Amino acid sequence: MTIPFDLNGGAAVITGAGSGIGRASALSFAARGCAVVASDLDGARADETAELVRAAGGEAASLAVDVSNHEDLEALRDLGISRFGRIDVVMNNVGVLAMGPPESLPIEAWQRVVDLNLMSVARSNLVFLPLLLDQGRGHIVNTASASGLLAYGFDRLPYVSTKHAVVGLSEALALYLAPQGVGLTCVCPSGVITNILEQISFHGDATTPRAPQHPLVGPDVVGELVADAVVAGQFLVVTAPEIHDELRERANDPEAYMQRMIKEQLDA
Ligand SMILES: NC(=O)c1ccc[n+]([C@@H]2O[C@H](COP(=O)([O-])OP(=O)(O)OC[C@H]3O[C@@H](n4cnc5c(N)ncnc54)[C@H](O)[C@@H]3O)[C@@H](O)[C@H]2O)c1
Repeated sequence: MTIPFDLNGGAAVITGAGSGIGRASALSFAARGCAVVASDLDGARADETAELVRAAGGEAASLAVDVSNHEDLEALRDLGISRFGRIDVVMNNVGVLAMGPPESLPIEAWQRVVDLNLMSVARSNLVFLPLLLDQGRGHIVNTASASGLLAYGFDRLPYVSTKHAVVGLSEALALYLAPQGVGLTCVCPSGVITNILEQISFHGDATTPRAPQHPLVGPDVVGELVADAVVAGQFLVVTAPEIHDELRERANDPEAYMQRMIKEQLDA
């Protein structure tokens, strides 16, 4: 059973909406008649997104929000309600990386990634779920990653760990929310051309990065997939359908899959 959601006439709040996938999703939601509160650590970028939405004929507000701060998320909720009288869609979209050989990653680097990629969703749940559950309708969007479905590389352990956690959290939360009329979409893109490199901290010696060998897409493609998924009540969004073949290969024989991955690493 899916929980379709009509974006037309609704209101969405988005974190990390000053760039990339968050900005594109704001534009795609607005194109379907949904008002948007664009929030970002960088308030000027959030303002720019709101301007772009208005220029395209949509309704938007903006706010500087740091997802590591509970009060900032409360302010985001309050602005959504005061400006648009409602919040229907909450998109938890911030993600950062720490890269380097596993033995070089300091605990502080791990903590930053865990706090921004995973604990930010826990904070958002505390702030927004009571509202959506009271209404008995709405939709959560959690931006995870293809790296939350399969571990493609060893050079970004905190990212792979937290994105797997966001996928697991999303699966479990969707089960809780569905009987209460609230939908959930988990977004697992492969490479998307955004400003994500700005969010990377590097540690130790440079490694040869290994990422999914999937085609890159633009953020606008992801924004459209996300908006369509919310409307359809679809749980999983991927940008590279070939990931389903890889998931099937692992499910069929997890040991053989892992041995193939190890062999590829040895041969690299
Ligand atoms: N770009 C990719 O290839 C890719 C692939 C898979 C998943 N993702 C995920 O997509 C999401 C969006 O990434 P993107 O590629 O659009 O990156 P992006 O860098 O273009 O946008 C991310 C935005 O988040 C903001 N941000 C950073 N820290 C923040 C904080 N503490 N509080 C609030 N905002 C903060 C940044 O200012 C930036 O505007 C992330 O969760 C990322 O992990 C990206």
